[in-house]
Amino acid sequence: MTYIVTDNCIRCKYTDCVAVCPVDCFYEGENMLVIDPDACIDCGVCVPECPAEAIVAEAPEFVDWLELNKKYAKQWPNITQKKPALPEAKEFDGVPNKLAEHFSPNSPKSIVNNINLNDV
Ligand code: SF4
Ligand code: F3S
Repeated sequence: MTYIVTDNCIRCKYTDCVAVCPVDCFYEGENMLVIDPDACIDCGVCVPECPAEAIVAEAPEFVDWLELNKKYAKQWPNITQKKPALPEAKEFDGVPNKLAEHFSPNSPKSIVNNINLNDV
């Protein structure tokens, strides 16, 4: 079992989830995060932290989301610290069909906030 990020994260990206994850298994795209299902330890503490209620436990009806989380966790950079939500987060919270209409497969345009200069 794992937890996965779903539709309502798109164009919100509040990142409260990142602050509580004990194993740093969130990865950041341009307008949403995903969880690495192989690293998630199923603790569930991120679920109530998400203001958009976008994190769910793995279940048959979320199999496409599981695949999306798996795929982009391999492509996007790891995010380990909370950052400001997207400017349009409130406006897009609860908007339907975000995957079809708003999902970006790109990495964040600026990942400078994620770089620890001590690691460079
Ligand atoms: Fe991290 Fe736990 Fe959420 Fe998995 S369930 S992503 S380990 S906080
Ligand atoms: Fe997305 Fe919710 Fe985390 S909106 S970034 S899953 S806190």
